[in-house]
Amino acid sequence: MNIILLGPPGAGKGTQARILVKERSMIQLSTGDMLRDAKASGSEMGKKVAAIMDAGELVTDEIVIGLIAEKLAGDNGGGFIFDGFPRTLAQADALGDLLKEHGTTLGAVVEMRVDDDELVSRITARSTCGDCGEGYNDISKPIPASGKCTNCGGTEFKRRADDNEESLRTRLMEYYKKTSPLIGYYYAKGDLRSVNGLGEITEVAGEISTALE
Ligand code: AP5
Repeated sequence: MNIILLGPPGAGKGTQARILVKERSMIQLSTGDMLRDAKASGSEMGKKVAAIMDAGELVTDEIVIGLIAEKLAGDNGGGFIFDGFPRTLAQADALGDLLKEHGTTLGAVVEMRVDDDELVSRITARSTCGDCGEGYNDISKPIPASGKCTNCGGTEFKRRADDNEESLRTRLMEYYKKTSPLIGYYYAKGDLRSVNGLGEITEVAGEISTALE
């Protein structure tokens, strides 16, 4: 089953995608991670998107649709989880066409609802393991006192360049202007399931599981 996790920055899309990967052998396709990898590699495309991402704006549809198109040609395991894609109506149309070309469909779109105050608090407290990408949060899931990642034992942790209040304001505005119309788009198609993203991480995972039944 292919699914989209839809929600504002900090809603917990990446956190829940990693749980679905472990529990259901699904494959996470995070356009944010792909773009950050391109940025870190210093490729031409990475250089082009770096300033846009740091400012919290959306990169062009053409770039992200191209990234997703490449991945859809590969193995889909227990299904793809689209994390952070689509983010515009043009991307949503393109995803529908791409899935059709590959003879598959979208099983569900899970909208994760979280209020803005909580988003700001989550994002400004976020860090990740530099080795495996496991997510941590100064408030809800602190780095263990041992200084070692619970998933891989790594000892380097990093914070994202766009996890500051100014970029976050732009990211939220981009979400409300360009991405939130997708809620109506997928509702009209009959694909939308909404979950409360405000509970504990395990509670939200349970809600998502129920929504996917
Ligand atoms: P992207 O990487 O997709 O960032 P985002 O959408 O802003 O989402 P985040 O990764 O910030 O949040 P999340 O929902 O995954 O939350 P997380 O699980 O980490 O995109 C970055 C940039 O790339 C964009 O701004 C844009 O420039 C570009 N881009 C990417 N895709 C694009 C596209 N399709 N089109 C155009 N441009 C694109 O959780 C956040 C924190 O909260 C963590 O610390 C976590 O531990 C904690 N947490 C999670 N769940 C809970 C919970 N239930 N309770 C308490 N804490 C929790």
